[in-house]
Amino acid sequence: MTDRSPRTPVTLENLRAAARVLHASRCPVVLTGAGISKESGIPTFRDALDGLWAQYDPQQLATPGAFRRNPKLVWDWYTYRRELLAQAQPNPGHRALVELERLLGCLVVITQNVDGLHQAAGSSDVIALHGDIRRNKCFANCQGDPTLIDLSTLDWDRASGPPRCPHCGAPVRPDVVWFEEALPAAALERAFRVCENADVALVVGTSGIVQPAASLPFVAKERGAFVIEVNPAPSAITAIADWSFAGAAGEVLPRLVTALAEWETHEP
Ligand code: OAD
Repeated sequence: MTDRSPRTPVTLENLRAAARVLHASRCPVVLTGAGISKESGIPTFRDALDGLWAQYDPQQLATPGAFRRNPKLVWDWYTYRRELLAQAQPNPGHRALVELERLLGCLVVITQNVDGLHQAAGSSDVIALHGDIRRNKCFANCQGDPTLIDLSTLDWDRASGPPRCPHCGAPVRPDVVWFEEALPAAALERAFRVCENADVALVVGTSGIVQPAASLPFVAKERGAFVIEVNPAPSAITAIADWSFAGAAGEVLPRLVTALAEWETHEP
């Protein structure tokens, strides 16, 4: 993407200015994407896949049609992603948001990530728009949406692909939102409400191109929120950001939190 919007250098002065905006905020919100988990070793969606999976496009694997056509292929891809995740730990970016919540008193984190790392770090109010890769559900949602299935209760031949739903026999799938699927209604509704009421929106590590999550920073901006972006590369959000810090989440967020803590300590 060509960078036509000014980026904000990550200087102490600029971080202190952003810290002051956060300090004055009554209703801050954080919106995160795959970029915040990159420093935990989880590839973003726009990164090329490694090794065996390099020949596949995630956008072709993460669809109900792909699962119908080849449940084993999609299941195996998620097994690979889960193995990556099993070794992943929250990084300084996730932890800085926990500290930000502590300093501000409240902070809603709206994430497109399915990795559960915000919750693992200790953020207490996380809206997971795209589900949670650690959970599974019946592909037919035969007992209501979602019909969660606990894999530890099932016995099946793992080499043959996904297990079957014990209620109806449909294949079991990860409880994540795939392309062409609707987001969980309650989570999406709350995310819009939070963004409509936010006075500061901190947007971290998202390309801002997958809807409807991509429209949330725009909703906040239209309602008058101050938008602060953290992303090493320009994104679809950069143009509406009041400040767009050009840096990695694991570097910028801890420094921002330190600036806020210092401001709160020394404020006259
Ligand atoms: P993307 O993979 O589209 O974008 C990742 C963003 O993170 C890019 O803008 C990178 O520049 C930025 N980035 C990379 N390293 C970073 C770092 N260390 N710190 C901060 N930012 C960094 O990920 P998302 O925007 O989250 O949807 O993608 C949105 C959705 O598209 C995903 O949730 C998924 C995918 O298809 C579904 O699965 C429904």
